[in-house]
Amino acid sequence: MAPPPSSAFDSSITLNINGDKHTLTVDHRTTLLDALRERLDLTGSKKGCDQGQCGACTVLLDGRRAVSCLQLAVAAEGRAITTVEGLSDEGQLHPVQQAFLDLDGYQCGYCTPGQICSAVAVIEEHAAGWPSAVTEDVRPEAGPPPLSAEEIRERMSGNLCRCSAYVSIVQAVARAAATVQAEPATAAPAGAEEAAA
Ligand code: FES
Ligand code: FES
Repeated sequence: MAPPPSSAFDSSITLNINGDKHTLTVDHRTTLLDALRERLDLTGSKKGCDQGQCGACTVLLDGRRAVSCLQLAVAAEGRAITTVEGLSDEGQLHPVQQAFLDLDGYQCGYCTPGQICSAVAVIEEHAAGWPSAVTEDVRPEAGPPPLSAEEIRERMSGNLCRCSAYVSIVQAVARAAATVQAEPATAAPAGAEEAAA
């Protein structure tokens, strides 16, 4: 049970994170990233720049990517929040996690949770037919473009890697997309169905 708000600057909120409800009192200026890391010990989401430029803090809100350092915790109430901790299923890694592991899609690993969350949504967005800035034929009837390395690089361009593990990251996303395509039922993040609807 969260303590009641102690000032006009606090609110008691309930966040739905990885399928679990967490009630806490936060200052209205608290970002979702700080609430996750500092209040709820969900430290998988990383703080890189804290200004929306690196993607290390990426989480999924109702299945869509969001940089949690620019999201106020109070504004995330009522949304389905998925962090990297919520992607595995009863100990079985999500296909994106497994592909990053198998293909060394990281070096220091600091950017990796954000890369993985972003890649999960990229695969969903691509399968739903969303074009990117490098998609040549954007007509709806053309369907999803092949998920080429160029498409993956563009769609993942909001996630920076200071170790420059980009070659392996692109390979891991391509491998995961193929796996998810073969087994779609195992790969949907919490809230993805509603987001795609
Ligand atoms: S820490 Fe949020 S985008 Fe860099
Ligand atoms: S693996 Fe080190 S920043 Fe990406």
